Amino acid sequence: MLKLGLVGHPVGHSMSPWIHEQLMDQQDIKGSYELFDLNPEKFDEEIQSSEIKGLDGFNVTVPYKEKIIPHLADLDESAKELGAVNTVKNTSKGWVGYNTDGTGFVDSLTNDYPNCLNNQARVLLLGSGGASRGIYHALLKNDVATIDIANRTLQRAKDIIGQSTASIDSHAIKLDEAAECLSDYDVVIQTTTVGMSPNDDQQIIPVKRLTKGTIVSDIVYRPMETRFLKEAKEYGARLHFGHQMLLQQAVYAFKIWTETNPDASGLLEEFEKKLKGV
Ligand code: ATR
Repeated sequence: MLKLGLVGHPVGHSMSPWIHEQLMDQQDIKGSYELFDLNPEKFDEEIQSSEIKGLDGFNVTVPYKEKIIPHLADLDESAKELGAVNTVKNTSKGWVGYNTDGTGFVDSLTNDYPNCLNNQARVLLLGSGGASRGIYHALLKNDVATIDIANRTLQRAKDIIGQSTASIDSHAIKLDEAAECLSDYDVVIQTTTVGMSPNDDQQIIPVKRLTKGTIVSDIVYRPMETRFLKEAKEYGARLHFGHQMLLQQAVYAFKIWTETNPDASGLLEEFEKKLKGV
């Protein structure tokens, strides 16, 4: 019996149990995936409970992606780089932390648009939270021409760029500046929570300056097609959706725990139906 779980607060609406149950079925593995909603005031105590210690592996979500680190025996390279962990494996030396968010995003994007992160590609990230930082680091491994970051608080965008030692053309800009020069970019990635249900009517920036054919991605997956994506589609953008990233990063975590090689593409259609409530 494989025992998996998710640690966070809150965790009630998570899609992870469904995804991992499908992956276990696909790989003919018997097991469970449980949700652990830990009290923020008692995190250090509750994370050491026998139930969590008994898991073979678990995912970590907000607000514990950084708080988990002192409890780990080791970190892989991506988690070390980011200072944040979304996947933990229980090993003979103790808990080992990984971060599959950035690579999950990049892989799901290049599955859809295989050559989009080439050495001519100009990429714009909107937002400077944890998700943006993970994606920025994963993008750096692809040797693109430019990665600019636009954020409401300019300093946070500067911090992400400043923390990296890579010699890439990268600028921190304001959101209104990003809206004005959207036509300069080949790939635009929305990484904030703006537009997430129940605030479906919100949109991070207007997209009227988009060039037809630009790839536009939104990591929000509820609703599946955000207002930002809807409008981008009207201006001729090619779209990439948040649920594709969610599925891919879950597949990575599952690979780390089970050393199997599951196929995400087979799950995509079912997952879309599930998100649409069909
Ligand atoms: P996480 O680490 O989960 O990504 P976060 O650190 O709270 O979350 O970051 C959320 C991102 O959404 C930030 O870029 C934030 O902008 P600020 O850095 O200026 O706070 C952005 N964000 C959230 N609400 C926003 C809004 N209404 N307008 C513009 N940006 C917003």
